[in-house]
Amino acid sequence: MGDEMIRDLVLMNRSYRRFVEEVPVTYDTLRELVDLARHSASSANLQPLKYILSCDREKNALIFSHLSWAGYLKKWPGPEAGERPSAYIVILADKEICESIDCDHGIVAQTIMLGATEKSLGGCIIGSIRRQSLYKALDLPLGYEILLVLAIGKPKETVLIEAVGLDQDIRYWRDSQGLHHVPKRSLDDIIID
Ligand SMILES: Cc1cc2nc3c(=O)[nH]c(=O)nc-3n(C[C@H](O)[C@H](O)[C@H](O)COP(=O)(O)O)c2cc1C
Repeated sequence: MGDEMIRDLVLMNRSYRRFVEEVPVTYDTLRELVDLARHSASSANLQPLKYILSCDREKNALIFSHLSWAGYLKKWPGPEAGERPSAYIVILADKEICESIDCDHGIVAQTIMLGATEKSLGGCIIGSIRRQSLYKALDLPLGYEILLVLAIGKPKETVLIEAVGLDQDIRYWRDSQGLHHVPKRSLDDIIID
């Protein structure tokens, strides 16, 4: 990493959806990542988020079956066996602490993914979750809400950032070599002076 450490980390921190599943992510690593989340900003410092950690085969399979992957890649059903994440962090809202969460979960999700990137891991923030059925499958007691699932593992794909002009398509795509391209709007297009 060069002098611009945070820039390098942010640029490396892409959404990865295919992994070397046989490379494990340990429970201790997941705990370290949640410890980063614990130190992140929280509205009114209420800290209403709770976390479920998963890094074993059975629990991973259970969580995987309730997620949807890459909505723009219409013909791709998601990662196949052997290319699935080695771990997950499920971000929950503890409704006893706070009835509605503003954006705390977005902040911790990015913090955790940056921490994973620093550890040469990668993953994907997943919001497209069959929440009711995952809630049941995880046998969660009443009083929680599933906000996001973070999929984590050793990435097995290359993601390239593409420039996108005004009024151009922002949908990501995968090319014939399996490279994943992500259009990003230009700096000039997003700063309104
Ligand atoms: C709140 C949130 C929810 C997301 N939900 C999903 C999802 O359900 N499935 C998925 O494959 N990707 C999901 N993503 C990943 C985005 O598709 C991804 O961030 C976007 O394509 C840009 O790619 P990048 O993260 O590499 O910049 C989500 C991202 C965010 C921030």
